[in-house]
Amino acid sequence: MLGLKLATDPRWVNIVESNIEEILTDHAWCEQKAATNAITIITLNSEHTDLVTELLELAKEELEHFQMVHDIIKKRGYTLGRERKDSYVNELYKFMNKGGNRVQSMVDRLLFSAMIEARSCERFKLLSKRIKDPELSKFYHELMISEAGHYTTFLKFARQYGQDVDVDKRWKELIEFEAKVIQNYGKSETIHG
Ligand SMILES: [Fe+2]
Ligand SMILES: [Fe+2]
Repeated sequence: MLGLKLATDPRWVNIVESNIEEILTDHAWCEQKAATNAITIITLNSEHTDLVTELLELAKEELEHFQMVHDIIKKRGYTLGRERKDSYVNELYKFMNKGGNRVQSMVDRLLFSAMIEARSCERFKLLSKRIKDPELSKFYHELMISEAGHYTTFLKFARQYGQDVDVDKRWKELIEFEAKVIQNYGKSETIHG
């Protein structure tokens, strides 16, 4: 799905179902990080009006997702837990070339963002298909569609602004890199865990 090399083991959903409160807290913070990341990209690339326009919309959607998860947390009598670290995303972050020029850094950050959207989308799809809770199944189906749109947006801007960079080559490298990282996940009740 979305170019990913490795599919998540469906048994990951059983782990998730054993601790719904934890997956919801982790998920809420994933949405917060997604909103923050979009704002960072805007901050670093403010001269690209089309990018700023679309990423402002995207950041708003991520905040809405955060709110939707928080609403479910409240409805179920839970409390949003403290911020969770995302070790998958932290490992993926290492792929980014920090010493390159501005265009290279921009392309890498957009591809990094597209990859997180792709994996989140894959996880949401699996949840929507397999989770027994009907409310969450419907919710994850809706989010899967939204995150797929974000994936497309990030990849589009990487290609549009990365004229001097071999974006497709870099994307293929990231797909390989992500496949190695994700091998060690799928064992805990977090969105990327
Ligand atoms: Fe989201
Ligand atoms: Fe997203």
